Formats: sequence, C-alpha cells, structure tokens
Amino acid sequence: MASPRLIMKMKVASLRHEAGDVSVVEFRHPRRPQLPSFEAGSHVDIHMPGGKVRQYSLMGHPADLSRYLIGVKREETGRGGSAWLHANLKVGDEMPVSAPRNHFRLHDKAQAHLLLGGGIGITPMIAMARALEAQGKAFVLHFFARSRSMAPMLADLEAELPADRLVLHFDDDPATVVDLAELLKEQKDGTHLYYCGPPGFMAWARASSAHWKPDTVHFEAFQPEEDPNFAPEPFTIQLHSTGQELEVPANASALTVLRAAGLLLFSSCENGVCGSCECGFVAGEPIHRDAFLSPEARTRRFIPCVSRAKGQIILDL
Ligand code: FES
Repeated sequence: MASPRLIMKMKVASLRHEAGDVSVVEFRHPRRPQLPSFEAGSHVDIHMPGGKVRQYSLMGHPADLSRYLIGVKREETGRGGSAWLHANLKVGDEMPVSAPRNHFRLHDKAQAHLLLGGGIGITPMIAMARALEAQGKAFVLHFFARSRSMAPMLADLEAELPADRLVLHFDDDPATVVDLAELLKEQKDGTHLYYCGPPGFMAWARASSAHWKPDTVHFEAFQPEEDPNFAPEPFTIQLHSTGQELEVPANASALTVLRAAGLLLFSSCENGVCGSCECGFVAGEPIHRDAFLSPEARTRRFIPCVSRAKGQIILDL
C-alpha cells in the first residue's frame, strides 16, 4: 500500500444517486491508470475547500485499481462535509484524495466473518463482502435499513451476492426485523464480527456483542457517540519524555494544546474517528471520547483531538 500521506489530485469520473440520499462518487486519476492498492475496509481522506478533511470507506472491488468508489450520505446535521459534496461536486471536478489506509481489516485467520452494516455503514461492508466472496471465504452480510427504498447500493448487493450471504432487515417490514442481541447471542468458534453504522446502531451492536472475545470484534464509526450531558473540564498533560506540564482548559482540545507547545502530531478528522492523532499514555485516567480505539487499546492509547482526562495524564510523547 502507498503511504496514506500521499495525496493525489483525482477527477470525479461519475456521480450516481442512490437510495437514502446517498451519492456514489467515482474517482479516477487523470494520468495514472493504476491507483495505489487497498484492502477491504480501507478508507480515503477527501480534502475539501476550507481545510475540511473527511474520511470515506472505499466500496469498490479491491482488485479493481482503476478507480476509487465512495458513498456519501447527505447529513444536514453533520459537520458540513457531506452537505458540501452533495451541493457542489460535479463530474470533471478535481479533488485531493489521500492514498487509502486501513484500520478496519478482515482478520486473516477467522474461520467465518459476520458483517453488519447499518444504513450508510454498508459501504465498508460492500468491499469486505466482495473480497470474501472472491476468496471463497465463509461470511454473511446483514444489512439494516429503515426500508427497502432507503437502502443504498441494494441492487448491486442483490445482484452480486448469493441469497444466503445477504440478509436484509428493514424497520418497516416486521418479518425482517431482528434483535441484534439475539443474533449475536452465541459466538461460534473462529467467527469474527465487523460492524459499521450511525451512532445508535454502533451502540446497539457494541452492547449486543459485549460478551464476544474482544479480539474478534472490529468496528468503524463515522462519528463518536454524542453525550449531551458531558461537560468538559480542565486537565493537565505531562509529557513522559521531558516532564513538561501543559494545562488543557475546558474549551480546548489536548491536540490544540500539544501543538501550541510545539509538538508535531498528525491529524485528519479531528473528530475522534480516524486515529491519525493517536498517541500512548503511561499513567492517568483518560476520558475516552473517540470512536476509534478498541476496548483493549483504551488501556494504553489516547486520542487527543477529542479525549480528555481526569486530573493529570502522562502522555507517551
Ligand atoms: S484526528 Fe482523527 S482521530 Fe484525531
């Protein structure tokens, strides 16, 4: 895979409207017929005017490197990236697109894969299902949507996947509704779980799989869960390497304070979902507010663009 820091100016080759207010954008490189390779579960960063950077899962077939395909749902209440793309993007436009990176890999050693996609969370699952089907691996994809008419990319999935690999669940069709707690009640030996969707779906899947072995559960979120009652408080960062102490006021992020002190930290989403700014911590009580780290990683890693701490935290910087 190419370095994810590589940013390419790519052309919008086509735009297609899909159910659920989703636009499918096809990017091609104006001169390179072969793009950097990607694995199922990968995403790219799209750099928008005004410095906004947003992550979108690649949903094409990993064997087809002539183009990148992303699905963008218009979110009127989001941070403006999807609304901008829907309102402004035209065929022929050039956009800076990063090389792919992957925090949501299929596990090589799994004997079976259980994929759950909620709404627009189907996008990484499409690439996963395509890759698993091509490799002849055991998997089932469960697609959850409000209704058939709100389910993006459904026609493609139904055309490509055998009926026993695709299970549809529509809120408006009681015969298809399933309780995730029931679906995930028993973990079959060697089965890995992957899920992606809006915050409510993520919380539902997380709670329903809490008893699964942690290293068999994989997820990707588009945004952290909102906690309307969370009131940020000031805290102190100590740098493990030098002992320097930095005060983080209630109205600033740890990332902002670290940068102001001259530390070079990468960032991309600045919303706790991409992992670009991840660092370690060696002591303290973090308040994890990201949607990126696994429960195991939370015992030693920290996402400074959104996470905070009680009192003092010592960062491995
Ligand atoms: S910049 Fe994306 S998680 Fe911090």
